[in-house]
Amino acid sequence: MQLDVFTSLPHAFAWLTEQRPVAAVLGEALELRLFNYRDTTPLRAGQIDDDPYGGGAGMILRVDAVAAALDAVYGGVPQHRVVALTPQGRQLTQRVVEELAREERLTLLSTRFEGFDERIVQHLASDAISIGPYVLSGGELPAMAIIDAIARLLPGALGSEESGLVESFSAQLDGGLEYPHYTRPAVFRGWRVPDVLLSGDHARIAAWRQEQSRERTKLQSAR
Ligand SMILES: C[S@@+](CC[C@H](N)C(=O)[O-])C[C@H]1O[C@@H](n2cnc3c(N)ncnc32)[C@H](O)[C@@H]1O
Repeated sequence: MQLDVFTSLPHAFAWLTEQRPVAAVLGEALELRLFNYRDTTPLRAGQIDDDPYGGGAGMILRVDAVAAALDAVYGGVPQHRVVALTPQGRQLTQRVVEELAREERLTLLSTRFEGFDERIVQHLASDAISIGPYVLSGGELPAMAIIDAIARLLPGALGSEESGLVESFSAQLDGGLEYPHYTRPAVFRGWRVPDVLLSGDHARIAAWRQEQSRERTKLQSAR
């Protein structure tokens, strides 16, 4: 998969690329390219944003700066999906991540301050995605959340110590939450690991886990 991120802060992604799962798939299942709007802006002194028409606080990412960046990299608006990261977009879920991970090429558009000129969302992007109903200061963290979630689904991403398949929201758990986990010590400050997990009875353990998963899922949807 080729994943391109357009941002004014490409260096913010350094941490992400050094960690698993992204580090494990870079150069293999994932080609991650970072583009800085400032490198291709047609405006003077690296300008990419401007005051809002109609007044008000904050700077707006300019449509001409984003169009120039897409022109420089793709020769125009690409055929593949271009996702604008905005709190006003379609909410990210594991299903959306799985959908994005099936793409061969994907572009993420990030911005900061007051957001995008609306024409970027309308004419240059194909999708708008939010990572949740709250406002962050920029699209870099949302982009990293999406990249990490996609990377986990790519071949070679997870080590043998990670499960990958049986996770919260996975088909294996009917889209529900995962059951609780415990490790040594079996008792700590009087807090005991459930006996069933120490029983060695794999059928009982599987049934207990399924039940726990159902209970948690029910509780969460009632919140
Ligand atoms: C301060 S926010 C702008 C919020 C915008 N003025 C609004 O009220 O909808 C700056 C940028 O951070 C990114 N961002 C913030 N929260 C986000 C979220 N929940 N999901 C995706 N992107 C987000 C977007 O790129 C956004 O344009």
